[in-house]
Amino acid sequence: MKTIEWLGDRIKLLDQTELPLREIYLETADYKEVVSAIKQLKVRGAPAIGIAAAYGIALGAISIKVTDRESFLNELQTVFSDFAGSRPTAVNLFYAIKRQKQAIADKANATDIKQAMVDTAALINREEEKAMSDLSKAGADLLKDGFKVLTHCNTGQLATGTSYGTALGVIKAAAEQGKNIMVYVDETRPLLQGARLTTWELLQLKIPFKLITDNMAGHFLSRGQIDCVIVGADRIASNGDTANKIGTYPVAVLAHENHVPFYVAAPVSTIDSSIGSGDEIPIEERDPEEIFQIRGVRIAPQNISALNPAFDVTPNKYISAIVTQNGIIKKPYKRNIKSIFQEGH
Ligand code: MRU
Repeated sequence: MKTIEWLGDRIKLLDQTELPLREIYLETADYKEVVSAIKQLKVRGAPAIGIAAAYGIALGAISIKVTDRESFLNELQTVFSDFAGSRPTAVNLFYAIKRQKQAIADKANATDIKQAMVDTAALINREEEKAMSDLSKAGADLLKDGFKVLTHCNTGQLATGTSYGTALGVIKAAAEQGKNIMVYVDETRPLLQGARLTTWELLQLKIPFKLITDNMAGHFLSRGQIDCVIVGADRIASNGDTANKIGTYPVAVLAHENHVPFYVAAPVSTIDSSIGSGDEIPIEERDPEEIFQIRGVRIAPQNISALNPAFDVTPNKYISAIVTQNGIIKKPYKRNIKSIFQEGH
């Protein structure tokens, strides 16, 4: 199974909206289809969005016909804007755009820029592969043999386009060390990334799990049935406040209330050092239709309204540690996140 594959002149994406019922791939050379795939969550999860966008920008560059540098860059700007408008919260998307823009600077002509876009996308892909592998192994030390671990949303190969993942990568690495881990999987309403995708990945990894609905987490936390919680992140502010899939924040509060450690696992590309706190993280509002139905079956009356924020922000005080490829960051986050950047980014 490959979440994202570059085929030289086109990209192949595993359509995650069809999982686990059907394994269907989207193959395209049209960058606009990649933008739509990101919007529709065919490709999703912060690091995977970043990698797909980087390759998508390369496709957009390749498709530009004009050759003089200025006109070429004008058209490329539209490609950048289309990707920037696809999903607002996952900072990895904006990190990919920034890296692609930096790659243009010293390139003299359209041919060289096109090549640079392809090379930079491949480089980001390789960097994220190593980051996820390193952070997974670093985080595995936090999980002891016999631990019962609660996770929210999907944070494995599907969400990262790499062989490990963030939170699920840590769980995978711990299992590879021979530890017995039992995973409690939040179903993750409204789009069921936990029920559809995390269970699918855990089955393949042969790691035991129990699927629970989101509103059951407090019950199990209060009865001492969970040893720790580990989740991914879509954007981490420089003070450690973390945006992740809607429903993460209540789990963090419940973990705190029940003295259960709450860990965030993310590559350094998910840290947005330009913002001071979670208040500045833009939260994506999605179509209320996603609330009215489950996989195409209407569950709510017609002509009602709903709210559908896709992410929430967990304040840093509820986070016991942040696992990155550059090490495990503890409080005080402001100072320790800064030093991670100075050392390794
Ligand atoms: O809306 P999604 O499915 O893209 O949300 C994904 C998450 O919230 C993940 O937890 C997050 O991207 C980190 S996973 C690598």
